[in-house]
Amino acid sequence: MIISYKKLKPVEKKLIDAAETARELAYNPYSHFYVGAALLSSKGKIITGSNVENASYGLAICGERAAFIRANALGIRSFTKIGISSRGETYDLKDPSLPCGACRQWINEFSQISGNDIEIISASTDKSKIIKILISKLLPKAFGPLDLNLEINKLKHSPK
Ligand code: THU
Repeated sequence: MIISYKKLKPVEKKLIDAAETARELAYNPYSHFYVGAALLSSKGKIITGSNVENASYGLAICGERAAFIRANALGIRSFTKIGISSRGETYDLKDPSLPCGACRQWINEFSQISGNDIEIISASTDKSKIIKILISKLLPKAFGPLDLNLEINKLKHSPK
């Protein structure tokens, strides 16, 4: 669903703004593509990440996964939403970009741990267009910790 920034709830606006700020911290000397992500924890904390590249190009870490890694190190594994903002070096994205396949799989992992379908809220570079979509729509019938018969409660950090 495409909506305008002003239609977002206040916390969703905060997520997009935090993702935009994180985006500018991307370490991207190879692609020159900027991605910022902002997770909303189940307890209302915002944790950001940006893409980090490497001279061995294939080792790049996306902004979305960087945010999950930061959150985990803070003791947070339950989330309700993720905000995303992207831009090129010399061009703006007219439409919001959506997470790559690897990041969809990561979002699905934490969706199962969180016990709720994480909502992805992605903005075009100038924030004029916003897409809201659930991870279950972007990665239907996904494989996850539930398939491995893991006890989800044991995978949660104490909620923050
Ligand atoms: N990138 C992300 O951070 N998230 C995505 O979902 C797609 C791609 C990054 C990886 C790389 O640093 C750059 O964007 C170009 O692919």
